[in-house]
Amino acid sequence: MKVLITGGGGFLGQKLARKLGGEPLIGDRVISAMTLADIVEPADIAAPFPVRRIAGDISDPAAVADMFADVPDVIFHLAAIVSADAEENFDKGMAVNLFGTYHILEAARAQKTTPILVYASSCAVHGGEAPEPVTDGVELNPQTSYGTQKAIGEKLVQDYSRKGFVDGRGLRLPTVSIRPGKANKAASSFMSSIFRDTLQGQVANCPVGRDYAVWHTAPRTVVRNLVHAAELDGATFGFNRNITLSGRTDTIGEMIDAMTRVAGPKAEGRITWNHDPEIETIVKGWRGHFRAKKAARLGFVSDTSFEDSVRWFLEDDIVT
Ligand SMILES: NC(=O)c1ccc[n+]([C@@H]2O[C@H](COP(=O)([O-])OP(=O)(O)OC[C@H]3O[C@@H](n4cnc5c(N)ncnc54)[C@H](O)[C@@H]3O)[C@@H](O)[C@H]2O)c1
Repeated sequence: MKVLITGGGGFLGQKLARKLGGEPLIGDRVISAMTLADIVEPADIAAPFPVRRIAGDISDPAAVADMFADVPDVIFHLAAIVSADAEENFDKGMAVNLFGTYHILEAARAQKTTPILVYASSCAVHGGEAPEPVTDGVELNPQTSYGTQKAIGEKLVQDYSRKGFVDGRGLRLPTVSIRPGKANKAASSFMSSIFRDTLQGQVANCPVGRDYAVWHTAPRTVVRNLVHAAELDGATFGFNRNITLSGRTDTIGEMIDAMTRVAGPKAEGRITWNHDPEIETIVKGWRGHFRAKKAARLGFVSDTSFEDSVRWFLEDDIVT
């Protein structure tokens, strides 16, 4: 089976590619080839199958056609610009997150093979006056351009699946923490930097209070769940192919306390607490409490503690 990962040079794209390179199976089907596509050529990964790495812009249909040259059986559509970027740059968000997703769906449709398509949506499709906890079936009520673009993508995935153009599965990812590397333009970036950077001796700012509740998941868990989404029989999702993915709720304070239990008290001392009203407006529009019953029923896994996330970050991502 052939796999395409859009956003294959990004944080989750690279982690997913490395996982599949190490365990080249989706269910009982062996991976025979992989394409990693991103706006710049993605880094190589170790794999027992050929890996094609291409630079291309998903807002350009010709570039997308090139990404699909190998006729993939499974597409992980992860390419997107993140929340604060899409908020600052409305046209870019529309071009990449909305029309880019449309181009991916059209290229998959043009194959006439009904490929499996796993779509990375976001819990940012929920917000505002949603009941808490947010349960399956609650109306999408995005409070940002990013959330709106993701919500429209979900509906397209659902309709292209209904038509038999793709076998889609949309996952509303919780905030993934701890994200390695540098801070990005996601409004949620601080939800990683206050752990990642302080654990590595640097200062990081927290723009919200300790009582802010975060719906989150660890990179290891979300990669496992992305693979699981591709393994399931699409029919088990029912008519609505989009689900709230499993996660857990902790306040920022509880997450900091978990970091302290794993790594000692020094890191917390490196957090500054300068309020940022712009970031706060975006993140307070999100919901922090969800009940992802359908995901649990379909066998998606949950994190059991933030301590695990801290340990896994230290094991997987700290370069010593
Ligand atoms: N990480 C999270 O906390 C989180 C939470 C919810 C949803 N998501 C979604 O999961 C997916 C992966 O997230 P991530 O954290 O790995 O983000 P990321 O920014 O690390 O990866 C996204 C990749 O998409 C690429 N990209 C952007 N514009 C592109 C374009 N025009 N053409 C081709 N590639 C382009 C970027 O270069 C980047 O490498 C995204 O769709 C994101 O919206 C992530």
